[in-house]
Amino acid sequence: MKYGFFDNDNREYVITRPDVPAPWTNYLGTEKFCTVISHNAGGYSFYNSPEHNRVTKFRPNASFDRPGHYVYLRDDETGDYWSISWQPVAKSLDEASYEVRHGLSYSKFKCEYNGITATKTLFVPKGEDAEVWDVVIKNTSDKPRTISTFSFVEFSFSHIQSDNQNHQMSLYSAGTEYKDGVLEYDLYYNTNEQEGFYYLASTFDPDSYDGQRDNFLGLYRDEANPIAVEQGKCSNSAQTCYNHCGSLHKQFVIQPDEEVRFAYILGIGKGNGEKLRTKYQDLANVDAAFAGIKAHWDERCNKFQVKSPNQGLDTMINTWTLYQAETCVVWSRFASFIEVGGRTGLGYRDTAQDAISVPHSNPEMTRKRLVDLLRGQVKAGYGLHLFDPDWFDPEKADVKPSKSPTVVPTPSDEDKIHGIEDTCSDDHLWIVPTICKYVMETGEESFFDEQIPYADGGNASVYDHMKAALDFSAQYVGNTGICKGLRADWNDCLNLGGGESSMVSFLHYWALQEFIDLAKYLGKNDDVDTYTTMAEGVRQACETHLWDDEGGWYIRGLTKDGDKIGTAQQTEGRIHLESNTLAVLSGAVSQERGERAMDSVDEHLYSPYGLHLNSPSFSTPNDDIGFVTRVYQGVKENGAIFSHPNPWAWVAEAKLGRGDKAMKFYDALNPYNQNEMIEKRIAEPYSYVQFVMGRDHQDHGRANHPWLTGTSGWAYFAVTNFILGVSLGFEGLNIDPCIPTDWPGFEVTRQWRGATFNITVQNPDNVSKGVKSITLNGVAIEGAIPTQADGSVHDVVVVMG
Ligand code: IFM
Repeated sequence: MKYGFFDNDNREYVITRPDVPAPWTNYLGTEKFCTVISHNAGGYSFYNSPEHNRVTKFRPNASFDRPGHYVYLRDDETGDYWSISWQPVAKSLDEASYEVRHGLSYSKFKCEYNGITATKTLFVPKGEDAEVWDVVIKNTSDKPRTISTFSFVEFSFSHIQSDNQNHQMSLYSAGTEYKDGVLEYDLYYNTNEQEGFYYLASTFDPDSYDGQRDNFLGLYRDEANPIAVEQGKCSNSAQTCYNHCGSLHKQFVIQPDEEVRFAYILGIGKGNGEKLRTKYQDLANVDAAFAGIKAHWDERCNKFQVKSPNQGLDTMINTWTLYQAETCVVWSRFASFIEVGGRTGLGYRDTAQDAISVPHSNPEMTRKRLVDLLRGQVKAGYGLHLFDPDWFDPEKADVKPSKSPTVVPTPSDEDKIHGIEDTCSDDHLWIVPTICKYVMETGEESFFDEQIPYADGGNASVYDHMKAALDFSAQYVGNTGICKGLRADWNDCLNLGGGESSMVSFLHYWALQEFIDLAKYLGKNDDVDTYTTMAEGVRQACETHLWDDEGGWYIRGLTKDGDKIGTAQQTEGRIHLESNTLAVLSGAVSQERGERAMDSVDEHLYSPYGLHLNSPSFSTPNDDIGFVTRVYQGVKENGAIFSHPNPWAWVAEAKLGRGDKAMKFYDALNPYNQNEMIEKRIAEPYSYVQFVMGRDHQDHGRANHPWLTGTSGWAYFAVTNFILGVSLGFEGLNIDPCIPTDWPGFEVTRQWRGATFNITVQNPDNVSKGVKSITLNGVAIEGAIPTQADGSVHDVVVVMG
């Protein structure tokens, strides 16, 4: 079953029927003010942190995605009312038609009902801490109509806990005030002029308003049937205490074929409501702000565009996968309808991996995240698994937490810096390749010399931070020389402690290769020698201890007692995705073993929805292996199709030169390919999810936890750099694709350091891998393409064979 389609020209996903089996969400905002919004306009806004500074309320885990950012319309002649989004009023789909366009940082809701066509476009203008609702109501009937509009948001008491658990705070320490088209919500305890005030404003002069939620909704009612809308008028409530909302009402008489247009503005900051109300009364400013958002994303997406024979790949890479990756980098992994903001901080490994995908589109944020991560690394080399960048930001060191009684105070050093028992074995390693990719993209080589403090004191250059990370993993190894698993490795539920993780040793090897390339480039010969020796030791340990010849794959690790995890002899958890894909991706293993390992992955882990993480699922609790054995079978880390490591398999196959396999695995996971089977997928088809139920679960194929997953960054990185093969080294731009044999070729436009490269790849011999020739502007070129003049445009022709 199908609920919508991809509109590639507009970079939109268009939902044509709103009774989708789960909320399909979007992210509004590119800087500090963010809204997570569903196709039913349910959702919430926050400023900077999804934990603190929640602007509007959301009730997670309810069967409705409520409340939200709603506009109600009322026919004042009949008393009939509806909402521009299908929910919350939910008119019968036989009477009303709805369309939702989720675009990049905006969502546009359209409703046609009873001779009235209304649209509401929500977006957050660049440079402003506010969300604009651009509303147009058109009379398509043949008689004049008297239509009332009402906005509705429910204000949050700022901290997630006070919305969910400590609800009483708002009852006596917050209030609303109304003046001249602005309803201001005052968090009385918080005197900060920015964070202590929220508002809802309108560009019209309201006929009535409500700042008190219960006056607007009425007792024993909800958002579906507010008393104010039913009666056609708000009660002009605004006062201290109780629960608060933003509703501004206006009646319009609209002639046939005529339309009215106005804006609501939801934002934060004392006095800003008045300012933005005035600004947006000139609707040309609404248009300009919206054009600014469009331009923002065009600029980012245009850094890399592909035209290939695979429409799903083009749609996702040109728009949605980059958008999702940027969403994870900018807003972290804690703001969705699943992760509803219970934490402010960053996950170390998540951030380090997400950031590898966006140095070309968002170098500023990549750099910021890298600095955040390096500040969250301790001298011993490991990273603090979850940390708040503000703890380590010297500019914010003196800022005391807000006076909110609900805000968690800044933790002491002991609370921040946990010992080895709380350390994850992989976290720190991911920063090494990401730092290299950032510098390759930007050319900012001085970054390696920049002094950055460690979380537990002392400074070191970025280069030395990288060495500390590599040295830590060399030191924390078990009896076989394989890295210890510690609290967990990439798999949060594999808790090996003093046991050993093959995945981490392969990751260590990959990070070492990236670092050795860097040391060579910088002419640091001693480091080249030291780390080449280290890498060789890692490689030998892996090949000696991790290969399971009977199965034809790499085991997942060893318990603290030396028992192997993931062998052909075992009946559950026999084969795992992470160890085998990283074995190949890292370059540590031979072509022969690599091919055997990936053939085993195909044979045992493949499904039409992607590759399983392990198979069969664990069914016997075993605390020497970890929490994974206590998760239901076929779910999450225990035998689901865990999306994040799937792209590692695409990279592995590309490195093996098997483009058909790489594309088979890519196509299986690609949400685009599930657009016509939503009854199975359930989740939105434009976003990767964290996991899809595995074959050991009765809902096999159902996709869960959209948006905030390392899959997007890795999918983008894997396709652009390894399948399409357009990647950067320290010497320049390399083109070395690995594509399906039936592709006659493809085109890529890549912008790099101000120059544009129009790349045409031809595949006359139907190969997967291998480049016969490259020309730059008609001249044959060997090796990498060096940087070119800012603003210059170049034709690159690559012939495979
Ligand atoms: O790698 C982790 C990630 O850090 C958080 N979500 C689950 C993944 C796998 O356990």
